[in-house]
Amino acid sequence: MIEQTASSFRINSILDASNDIKLSNEAFEKWRQYIYSNCGIYFQDNKKYLLESRLQKRIKFLGLDSFDQYLFHVQKQNGNKDEQKYLYEAITINETFFFRNQPQLEALISKVIPELIAHKNKTGNKTIRIWSAASSSGEEAYSVAMIIDDLIKPMYPGYNFEIIGTDLSQAVINTAKSGLYKEYSVRQTPSYYLKKYFRITNNSYQISENILNMVKFKILNLYDDLAMKAMINYDIIFCANVLIYFDMKSKMKVVSHLYNSLNQKGYLFIGYSETLHGISKAFLVISFPKTIGYKKE
Ligand SMILES: C[S@@+](CC[C@H](N)C(=O)[O-])C[C@H]1O[C@@H](n2cnc3c(N)ncnc32)[C@H](O)[C@@H]1O
Repeated sequence: MIEQTASSFRINSILDASNDIKLSNEAFEKWRQYIYSNCGIYFQDNKKYLLESRLQKRIKFLGLDSFDQYLFHVQKQNGNKDEQKYLYEAITINETFFFRNQPQLEALISKVIPELIAHKNKTGNKTIRIWSAASSSGEEAYSVAMIIDDLIKPMYPGYNFEIIGTDLSQAVINTAKSGLYKEYSVRQTPSYYLKKYFRITNNSYQISENILNMVKFKILNLYDDLAMKAMINYDIIFCANVLIYFDMKSKMKVVSHLYNSLNQKGYLFIGYSETLHGISKAFLVISFPKTIGYKKE
């Protein structure tokens, strides 16, 4: 007989998936409807195991016995949104990095901002408002801030630039506010900007105070009609790599809100692999080198 040591027993029980709480097809259906109706993210059938593994940890932590119990718990908590915070952290994919979409940043410098400023000069309004919607931990918004501080502000000294980043997940918004990153996030950052705008210690990259102060962050659910109606008068919106998690109906709803959030002549930029084809005909499609922008005429 093989004697089982304490450590082999522990390893066996970790590897033994039979202890794990399973997500039945029926519970999956309820969960996906709940998530969809609250934030527009749609879990396809082939994502059932992903949802199961992402929620299992929280269910165990709370000492609950089933996915149904957890759904009851989340719905009960709707009033103060406390549990939804954990749920959103568990189900979102927050991949991002600095200078992720360089052609968009180049379009901003060479065409979009000069064009917006030429238009604003006629109106006397000297503020450009930029929104990184679904900002994750803030890398996109801070990349824009660096470009503006380094290249745009010196060209247009009389102008103010307001930048806001928003996301569904509290955890990523906290990281964004701290401005502290790991090497992974800065892997595509030009060395000139690394030197100019980061304090580097032991593989940690802290954004400089002036860039940190240029960007405000807050939690915002793109699927929340009321919250979206309050987001108005933006000149440029980045909403990249989030529409892919929505179904067609949610995409249409979110894009129509974004359209309403833009000023006349404003631009929407989405992810490299995303398109508004079949989602909205309201925008003018503008081609820039290696990227496109959606303009509100
Ligand atoms: C893959 S990241 C994209 C980050 C950044 N825009 C980029 O392109 O690098 C997607 C982000 O969308 C956020 N998200 C998902 N559903 C959302 C919703 N309904 N409202 C707001 N943000 C949402 C997630 O929390 C996640 O941080």
